[in-house]
Amino acid sequence: MKIRKLVHNVYLIEKDGKEIIATKSGYGSHYGEKVFDGYREWIPYRSKLAAIFLKGYSIKFKPNWKILYLGAASGTTASHLADIVEDGIIYAIEYSAKPFAKFLGLAKERKNIIPILEDASKPWRYSGIVEKVDFIYQDIAQKNQIEIFKLNSKIFLKKGGEGMIMVKARSIDSTVESERVFSRVIEDLSKNFEILKHGSLEPFHKDHIFVHVRS
Ligand SMILES: C[S@@+](CC[C@H](N)C(=O)[O-])C[C@H]1O[C@@H](n2cnc3c(N)ncnc32)[C@H](O)[C@@H]1O
Repeated sequence: MKIRKLVHNVYLIEKDGKEIIATKSGYGSHYGEKVFDGYREWIPYRSKLAAIFLKGYSIKFKPNWKILYLGAASGTTASHLADIVEDGIIYAIEYSAKPFAKFLGLAKERKNIIPILEDASKPWRYSGIVEKVDFIYQDIAQKNQIEIFKLNSKIFLKKGGEGMIMVKARSIDSTVESERVFSRVIEDLSKNFEILKHGSLEPFHKDHIFVHVRS
């Protein structure tokens, strides 16, 4: 087994002739991923952030970062992020009760996750709970997702803080080509943020890009 560290608690592992991404973790399986030798396999088809790492782009997460996570669902990606920011905290927003119920199970066993059942388009409703953060991760597949990201950044992102937005072209506009939607999104974000990197999530997530920004 060949192992290479990417960032704190994230490893690229050559195992059984295959390259995989895993986080170092003292916890068990959360969504059916394999657990071996103190690592949890991070499945790129289930988590867009795992796909980004596997495609060779690293976000330099620090173990003590405070993160605002918009669209936590049942916690697939949040569970790995919790392994990474082990001395930090994740404020996780999700408005759908069904995935949130499973997410609560994860939050109970992790001391660094604060689960919040709320609508990310109404950040004033959770501004009494969430503090200023180093990083905003957004994966909500909504038409107005850029507006939602800007709104949350304005309130919660520290100056110089970073963000990552997962963009699904069809959720924003299904009437024009994906490439046009992506260009518009990047142009829109560049009015308020420095664009650090953007890229496709293919072949793991069709018709999606990520955009990494700094405030
Ligand atoms: C693609 S899934 C997220 C998957 C998750 N990020 C992961 O990788 O484990 C999108 C989630 O965003 C949630 N969502 C969409 N709009 C939202 C909003 N305005 N406020 C809070 N959650 C929202 C949906 O309920 C859904 O659970």
